[in-house]
Formats: sequence, structure tokens, C-alpha cells
Amino acid sequence: MAKPRVFVCRPIAKEALDKIAKETEMELWPEELPPPASLILEKTRTADGLLSLLTDKIDAPVINAAPRLRVISNMAVGFDNIDIKEATKRHIPVGITSGVLTDTTADFAFALLMAAARRVAEADRYTRQGKWKTWGPLVLLGQDIHHATLGIIGLGRIGKEMAKRASGFNMKVLYHDSVRCPVDEEKRLGIQYVDKLPSLLSQSDFISIHVPLTPDTRHFLGEKEFALMKPTAVLVNTSRGPVIDQEALYQALKNHKIFGAGIDVTETEPIPADDPLLTLENIIIAPHIASASVPTRTKMAMIAAENLLAGLRGEMPPNCANPEALKK
Ligand code: DGY
Repeated sequence: MAKPRVFVCRPIAKEALDKIAKETEMELWPEELPPPASLILEKTRTADGLLSLLTDKIDAPVINAAPRLRVISNMAVGFDNIDIKEATKRHIPVGITSGVLTDTTADFAFALLMAAARRVAEADRYTRQGKWKTWGPLVLLGQDIHHATLGIIGLGRIGKEMAKRASGFNMKVLYHDSVRCPVDEEKRLGIQYVDKLPSLLSQSDFISIHVPLTPDTRHFLGEKEFALMKPTAVLVNTSRGPVIDQEALYQALKNHKIFGAGIDVTETEPIPADDPLLTLENIIIAPHIASASVPTRTKMAMIAAENLLAGLRGEMPPNCANPEALKK
């Protein structure tokens, strides 16, 4: 029997590619940059399975041009790059990699929090630029992290891990979510629910956002929200760029309405070279690397391979964003 045909949108960990290649007729896009949309469309047209990344837009035209497509495996926890409704309608399960990147992403969010608060990237630039003349009592003063208040927006897996890390720094942790978590879990995590977002924003020294990108969360934080934050506040975003109105963030940082920010994601990725955010000292901008540790990216690739192969066998991918797609 002919092996199923799959298209893999970028080189991923070798062990995952080997696993896929064993059971399929695999075609791999070998470049560093994502395949063009027209190529994804063309390759998916004849594919049984697709392994995509968050940079690949798998929309209705792609899905509907692919009569054989039985599974989409996205190597990410987020799946806003995929038209999930359309996939579900076509009974195509969408595999994701939730779970394995939780700790690594929370580690990085906390790293951004600390680096922005203590101006680490700016201090490094200062040293390299030969500006370090002496020990200065007023040089590069930042914000304290210990005993400060962290406001978590979105208490999913990563949000909860942020809370655990914050407890090691004796922080007070508030959270806001559309659903309150059970009181015993609040107690265990040492967190307090704040029903109204404005209240969390005005009380927090650090704000870390952990919501998925949906039509409801696009520009979740904008001018109005920045106006409520403390002038000493530090904002962290490791979720998706468009959950923050980037122009409003720029104005808030430029006019020192908030102290700083550490972001791993931007509205357009990569951030255009002429983006005004790049002119500011009080923001750290990382190139969407929160999950980028060797062990985690390897695990993500293996899960993506397993999801893909399960879908090809007509089974439910072990980590599936739309299990209803396979329900009879
Ligand atoms: C994801 O998985 O959605 C992250 O943004 C990248 O690891």
C-alpha cells in the first residue's frame, strides 16, 4: 500500500523527521524562512497530512483545496494560524503541542520580567558602548521584583507556572480570567482572583499576559488599559503580539506611562526594522523564542510527529485542539 504523503513546512528536530519519514512519503521544505503561501497551497493539495508551524497560515482556501487532507499537526500550543472551524467542518483533527512548553515558556516570561525590571539588556548595551565610567548611585536604576505585585492575565497552564515562579520571589500574585479557578487551587498557588481587569491593572507592579489570540483578545490591552497601569509597571507578553495594541504600547513606553516591557511576540513578526518600538531603551524585544530550549523544541517536534502519524492512521492525535472533528 502506498505510504501517505505529508508536507512538513520547515526542518524540525531530526528524530521527529526520521519518525515521520519512516511511515510516510515526506516532503520537507528545507529553508530557514517559511514556505510561501502559494507553495503551502500547492503542496497541501495532494497531501494526506501537513506539519505546520505558527508562521504558516492554514486558512479555508488551503484546507478546502486539499481533498485528501486527514490531519494538520501544528508544532505550537497556539493555533491562531489555522482556520480551526474549517478544519473541524472537514473532520480534520488539528494537533498541537500543549503541555510540553509550559515550564520553558514561563521561565522565559519570568526572564523577560526580570530583565525588563532590572534593565539587563540596556545595561549590557551601556557597557559595550563604553558608557561605564564609574559605579554610579543613580545609574540604571530599575524596579524591585521581590515583594512586588504580579498581575497575571489568563490563568492557563503558563499563567499558573508564572504564579509558582513569583512565589519564590515573595511576590503577591493577582490574576484575572474569564473563569475563576477553584478556591483550593487559588490557595495552593497563593493567588488572588481579581474580577475586573482595570482593578488588576492598577494594582500590579508587573503584568504578564497569557491569553490565546482570538477575535475577543485582539488588542486586549490598549491605550485605555495602559492609562490604568502604574508609572513603575512592567508589562510582559509571551502570548501573541496582537493581544496588545502595539502603537499604544509604544506611546506608553515613550511617554513613561509605564516603566518598561519585555515582549517575545509582536503584531507583525518579524518586527519591521523601522518599527518605532525598536528606538526605545525601555523595552526588550525577543524574536518569539519563549519555548526555544533544546529539550522543549525537541519534545514539541516529537509530539507534532506523533500527532501527525496518529491522524494519518485515522486515530485521534494525542494532543488535539479540535477533538470534535473526529466525533461521529
Ligand atoms: C506556541 O507554541 O504557540 C508558542 O508561541 C511557540 O512555541
